[in-house]
Amino acid sequence: MSVKFIGESDGIKKFALENKNFVKAEIITYGARIFRLVLPVGDGIDIVAGFNTPGEFKGDNPYFNAVIGRCCNRIAKAGFALGGITYNLYANDGENHLHGGKEGFDRKIWDAQTVGNTLRLSLTSPDMQEGYPGTLKVTVDYELTDDNELKLTYRAVSDKDTVCNLTNHAYFNLDGDFESVLNHIVTINADFITTVDDELIPYGDLTKVDGTPYDFKQPKKIGKDISAETKMLTAAKGYDFNYVLNKAKDTPCATAYSQKSGVKMSVFTTEPCMQFYTGNFLDGIVGKKVYGYQSAFCMETQNFPNACNVPGFKSTILKKGEQYFSATTYKFDF
Ligand code: BGC
Repeated sequence: MSVKFIGESDGIKKFALENKNFVKAEIITYGARIFRLVLPVGDGIDIVAGFNTPGEFKGDNPYFNAVIGRCCNRIAKAGFALGGITYNLYANDGENHLHGGKEGFDRKIWDAQTVGNTLRLSLTSPDMQEGYPGTLKVTVDYELTDDNELKLTYRAVSDKDTVCNLTNHAYFNLDGDFESVLNHIVTINADFITTVDDELIPYGDLTKVDGTPYDFKQPKKIGKDISAETKMLTAAKGYDFNYVLNKAKDTPCATAYSQKSGVKMSVFTTEPCMQFYTGNFLDGIVGKKVYGYQSAFCMETQNFPNACNVPGFKSTILKKGEQYFSATTYKFDF
């Protein structure tokens, strides 16, 4: 395993993590994003979406492989109350707040240092940035092990009570060609998803997945039920739901498998939920490839979305001085 600085362009530094099996993850300091994730299959396949140069990640794109914060997913009506004060956030998804606001952590240049075999990216988000209270100091560690695991460890501490829910928005296509994800075979170890309204806002109810198109407890092709005309699948134009994970020690919360490349990805996490998103808003954006509708999928581990407005959900409040900790591993077999 090694971590190396491999260059800087447009004010963005690039690092390469490599292991003994010739797996290579390149990480950039803009948005703490995964730039490339190459597996030694055939001539080598890059299984994450994105652009050919770091600078192209600046500006509008669908959060390609970025760390999302201070609060990922949607917050209803772009606001929440904490300690008797109402905080107003930026509404960037209709009336709602999505993925940290106008300039979330995905649009910040993070500091980088190598700590042994780990790349540590750090960011200080000032008090009231994007409307969130408290100065939040965040670190995200990337590590690539010789067992072909890409490990992400998130830590944060705030000097005031705040809300915090971090994830990574990697877009995967294990075929490596970013044509379609519909033939990928997926499992998700979850009995429930958080029910959403037409604006994809979870408001407290859960839907049991048994006997529904949302059920991935047994291996199933993404495409099998994706066109079922349920209210939620229609509103989301595909899967875009938060799965409430069954507690399972040492077994993955989700897996995805490509018959084309033989690559299997297993996801492990400390988090209670995972947003499974099938790229339903990808509309032909041009990068390393042309990313069309449902050409990539995301497995975004996280705490409950909109929890700051739903008392029944596990809280995303981070108390002053307390440590936020979250860890997710993406393991690859090929
Ligand atoms: C959300 C989608 C959203 C996408 C943005 C996902 O995490 O669940 O609804 O469109 O991010 O690219």
